[in-house]
Amino acid sequence: MERQVRSGIMTPVRGLMTREERLNPFPFFRHMRETSPVRYDHDRDSWDVFRYEDVYRVLSDHETFSSNRDALHPGKAESASLIDMDPPQHTKYRNIVSRAFTPKRVADLAPRIEQITAELLDKIAGKGEAQLIKDVAGPLPVIVIAEILGIPAKDRHLFKEWSDKLVESAAVQNTEADQALMMEKNRVSQELYAYFTEQLAARRANPGDDLLSVLLAAEVEGERLNEQQLLSFCLLLLVAGNETTTNLITNAIRAFAEQPELQTRLRENPGLMPGAVEEALRYYSPVASIPSRFATKEAELGGQLIKKGDQVVAWVGSANRDEAKFPHPDQFIVDRKPNNHLAFGWGPHFCLGAPLARLEGQIALQAILKRLANIRLQAGSELQPVTSTVVFAVQELPIAFET
Ligand code: HEM
Repeated sequence: MERQVRSGIMTPVRGLMTREERLNPFPFFRHMRETSPVRYDHDRDSWDVFRYEDVYRVLSDHETFSSNRDALHPGKAESASLIDMDPPQHTKYRNIVSRAFTPKRVADLAPRIEQITAELLDKIAGKGEAQLIKDVAGPLPVIVIAEILGIPAKDRHLFKEWSDKLVESAAVQNTEADQALMMEKNRVSQELYAYFTEQLAARRANPGDDLLSVLLAAEVEGERLNEQQLLSFCLLLLVAGNETTTNLITNAIRAFAEQPELQTRLRENPGLMPGAVEEALRYYSPVASIPSRFATKEAELGGQLIKKGDQVVAWVGSANRDEAKFPHPDQFIVDRKPNNHLAFGWGPHFCLGAPLARLEGQIALQAILKRLANIRLQAGSELQPVTSTVVFAVQELPIAFET
């Protein structure tokens, strides 16, 4: 499986070209915060925003920085996907889907997440080494979301394939270079739509306790989601939830392998784990940049004048290392307080799956540290970063350990 994102929006960012720069973008981020915190990149035809304060503003001020590429073209069809909508349409839709993601529903999943993690770890524990993504961090969120949606176990492999392909092509733009990817994305979306259409019909006839049935029944002020909205929400869950959670777990273990004293501290004090997950989200943010905000009007940001219609990329991976916000930003401080990182975004689009991602991260990391001792990178292995500039991740994490 190639865990690479290739697309127009991935036109390389100067400063993030080499393997070393992608594995460790933080010196580049620091340099940008210091020298050009808000800058226009002609190669990519977009603004880059690097400081915490400015990233926060872009994510909070939806009236100026819209999530809808077409907001400036009235008459275009309204987006059916939550992530591209602006309030008030976004608020209404989000209220409906939030019904399905209540804290109680998420908390109830804990025993099942523990069981799935234990089964995955059983397969590697005796071996002394593993490919963390292939063996544990990749399958876990896919199995969890498939179960939440009520997808039969026999279809899970389809699910994983679709989800990988969608993530690979999530941010493509309709440029010539991206034609092949666009076609692949359309094909996968159609397969998924067809699959979910069948599943939804089955739930209509015979509702259960799964998320699809809950979404079908959920209504706010007498309104329900239409078929198109339901389908695009299912797709969004796969795109937004799987690879991000995989990368949270993997990035955290990478940090623990690089700084073994963190493992010792966390094994001795398991109660520190929730804070350690927050710090992992800040320190190695799985989402490096949120690329899709569009200025609805002229705006001043960090001393620069953003023009109406311009695209703005919010670098949360840089904001989360901003020394103006976080003391000793390049240190992994397990019990850092306060820790108001922006790894899940901010404002109206704040990650809907954050409670689930946190729970999966805490359970998986706790179990990994308990079962595997002295986790380190396999001797002679070389980490390869993914090529996407939206995601901060490695393609695989080969680890060695004792049990
Ligand atoms: C939105 C990050 C896990 C579902 C977002 C956004 C970020 C993010 C940065 C904001 C995007 C924007 O402002 O345009 C993450 C990270 C995760 C994670 C770092 C794991 C560590 C999940 C999971 C799910 C999920 C597990 C669901 C199962 C969503 C949805 C949205 C979203 C539906 C759109 C919310 C909206 O537009 O109102 N996520 N996410 N995410 N995320 Fe997550």
